[in-house]
Amino acid sequence: MEKIAILTRDCAGINAALRAIVRTASASHIEVLGVLRGFDGLIDSNFIPMNRSSVSNIINLGGTILKTSRSTRFLTHSGQKQAIQNLYDHNIDGLIVIGGNGSLQGAHCIAVSSKVHVVGIPATIDNDINGVALSIGADTAINVALDAVDKIRDTATSLERIFIVEVMGRESGYIAMQVALAGGCEEVLLPEKKFTIKSMCLEIEQGNVKGKSSWIIIVAEGRAKAHDVARIITKKTGFETRVAVLGHIQRGGHPSAVDRILASKLGNYAVKVLCDGQTDLCVTVKNDKLVTIPLSMAIQPKKIDVSETYKLIKLLAK
Ligand code: F6P
Repeated sequence: MEKIAILTRDCAGINAALRAIVRTASASHIEVLGVLRGFDGLIDSNFIPMNRSSVSNIINLGGTILKTSRSTRFLTHSGQKQAIQNLYDHNIDGLIVIGGNGSLQGAHCIAVSSKVHVVGIPATIDNDINGVALSIGADTAINVALDAVDKIRDTATSLERIFIVEVMGRESGYIAMQVALAGGCEEVLLPEKKFTIKSMCLEIEQGNVKGKSSWIIIVAEGRAKAHDVARIITKKTGFETRVAVLGHIQRGGHPSAVDRILASKLGNYAVKVLCDGQTDLCVTVKNDKLVTIPLSMAIQPKKIDVSETYKLIKLLAK
C-alpha cells in the first residue's frame, strides 16, 4: 500500500477518524490524499494531499474538514466509472470511506468494480449499519438530544405542559429510543413501531386524573411530525402542548469521548486492514475487539427489536 485516499460524510467524530487514518498511514510512509466534497469530489478529481499537520487540532471538531455532499451523480454508471478512473489516474491503491449506509454502498460499489482496495468506517447518527453495534456520531447525537430534553423538562415540569420533541431518524428510531430511555420520557414514537394517537391521548387523560401533569413525548422524524402530533393531542384532550424540533444540532458539535475513542481506533484499524491487502470490508468493534465484516453485509437493512426497550421506557415512566 503506497497511496490511499479518504472520503467522508459528516457527523461528530469523523475528524477524529481522519486524524487517526492520516497519522497511522504517515507512520508507515503511506501517502494520503483527502477527497473534498464526498463522492462528488471523487468524480471531479477533487483531491488534496494530507499529512500529519493537516489533521492537527481537529480531534475535537464536529463535521468533516474535507466537506461532503449527497451525490446523485455517483448513483449513475458514468459517475462511478469516472470516480474509479480518477482513483487509477492518481495511482491510489486504497480508499477509506467514512459514513453511513449510502456511503458504504458507494464504497462497496468501488470495491467490486475496481482494483482499488476499499475499507468502510461506519459513521452515522442513526446507528443503522447492519452488523455494527455502534457507529461513530451516534453517541454524540444522543448526548446532544438528551441535553435538550433535560432542559425542556424544566419548563415541562414548571408549567405542567406536554412537550413533543422531534429527533432525527428518517428510517431509524435509534436516537429517539435511547433519548426516551435516558431522558425518562413518557412516550416515544418510532419508525419501527406502530402506534395509535387515540390510545396515547387516552393514556394522557388517564394520567392526568391520577395527577400526572407533564409529559415529554419523543418523536422520530420518520414516524411523525411533532407539530402534527401536538395539534392532534391538543384537539383530542384539550391540553396545552409545545413542540421542539431538534434537527441538525444532533449531527454537529464536539464529538463525545466515546465517539473520539471509537473513531481513533477504527481509523487506525482501517489502515491496518488495507495494509493487510484486504478489501470490501467494514471495520467495527465486537466484544471489545476490532473486527471486519463484509461491506455487502453492512449495507443490508439493520433489523432491531425495539419491543424490550419500549416496554422498559413505559414501565419506568409510569
Ligand atoms: O442519516 C443521518 C441523518 O442525519 C438522518 O437522521 C436524517 O434524516 C438525515 O440524515 C438528514 O439528512 P440531510 O442533512 O441531508 O437533510
